[in-house]
Amino acid sequence: MADTAKLTVGDQSIELPIVEGSEGERGLDIRKLRSEMGLITLDPGYANTGSCQSRITFIDGDKGILRYRGIPIEEVAENSTFLEVAYLLIYGTLPTRDQFKNFHASITYHTMIHEDFKRFFGALPKDAHPMAACSASVGALSTFYPDSLDPRDPRQVEVSVHRLIAKMITLAAYAYKHSIGQPFMYPANNRSYVANLLYMVFGTPCEEYIVDPVIERVIDMLLILHADHEQNCSTSAVRLVGSSMVNLFSSIAAGINALRGPSHGGANQEVINMLAAIRDEGMTARQFVERAKRGDPTARLMGFGHRVYKNFDPRMKIIKKGCFDVLGKLGVHSKLLEIAVELEEIAIKDDYFVERKLYPNVDFYSGVTYTAIGIPSNMFTAFFALGRLPGWIAQWMEMHHDPDFKIGRPRQIYTGPTLTHYVPIEER
Ligand code: ACO
Repeated sequence: MADTAKLTVGDQSIELPIVEGSEGERGLDIRKLRSEMGLITLDPGYANTGSCQSRITFIDGDKGILRYRGIPIEEVAENSTFLEVAYLLIYGTLPTRDQFKNFHASITYHTMIHEDFKRFFGALPKDAHPMAACSASVGALSTFYPDSLDPRDPRQVEVSVHRLIAKMITLAAYAYKHSIGQPFMYPANNRSYVANLLYMVFGTPCEEYIVDPVIERVIDMLLILHADHEQNCSTSAVRLVGSSMVNLFSSIAAGINALRGPSHGGANQEVINMLAAIRDEGMTARQFVERAKRGDPTARLMGFGHRVYKNFDPRMKIIKKGCFDVLGKLGVHSKLLEIAVELEEIAIKDDYFVERKLYPNVDFYSGVTYTAIGIPSNMFTAFFALGRLPGWIAQWMEMHHDPDFKIGRPRQIYTGPTLTHYVPIEER
């Protein structure tokens, strides 16, 4: 197959190299297009634009394939733990026993946050959304650790990475505790990463909190499933912001903000709002699907559709199964799950969704699962952020080691007024 493509515009031609990835994906390398042809590309939403070459995560959206560092998501979800997956994404290989022991010990050691964070959270409004509180507090970490902010210093980066993974569970739990007016719980480092998170979210100083191992495992699995998803909106935000050479904490805060949007990670909370509205307003699933087909962007079937998956999202399949398993084990009956299943069954057979290749995505069943195990809906997206954190970090680090690294700076096609002159205010 040709390894260049010829582009002819008028009487000018250029040979554009074709770059091929390890899984056969092909792309045109247009780096010389502007300098040699005076042309740029226009691709709103970047649907056809590769922003980098990456070795971290592979997705085949047509076949519904997702792999972390080459390992199928199904195998990772079944056999691994979230911290091991974090290591895999960040360092590139599964850890040996010793490597994992050291990583685990370092993460556990750093979970405590500066006592002044109590005042920081205390200054936020009572009803501050935990995602806003998380992004603000992660950004604020850079003010507490000015000694480790240089993205070019590998030791400083490693310290920041470990601090961030460790402290993020504590910050997320504080964000939640603040929103319900309960005392902040200090991390208890004799627990696993996820058990510590659940303890800080649900525990109180008044009584002992025992973590249910079924819930601990399902949360661990949800974090694994969210851990990376190549160049999605929030990851691209992390890379773009990080490309200015700002520190890791500021870059991750940008990712958290991007994730919160309802078209992205915020969809998990929206799905539950949608299911609850269907239940409470006495609407049928069919009526809701009909409404979602009108093309009104404010009445979409939340948890459906994906820029990359034009087939079932493999994460959704695992979460759906996990959701049934956990509800069965806990003996919980969920009306919301019934509605979700009915919506899915109607939508995947409906011409509107079939023609547009709209399938349930990762968010469709995650909210139902979180609800069933008692996670409050305003924390769904914060849990997503906890899961995505190692992916953001791995992508940020990969970008800094990329020989093609440059500050991210897209171009535009200007369509505003041509030269016009300033008019003094009295003449307007
Ligand atoms: N419900 C109804 N119609 C939909 C939906 C939906 N959930 N999603 C897309 N469509 C329709 C659009 O109206 C459009 O129809 P048209 O061709 O007649 O105009 C067509 O499908 C294509 O939609 P786009 O918005 O162009 O697709 P895009 O790839 O830009 O958007 C997105 C993907 C944002 C995920 C979209 O499907 C959506 O809004 N889904 C609901 C929100 C959601 O679940 N987001 C979570 C995604 S997963 C994640 O980020 C973690």
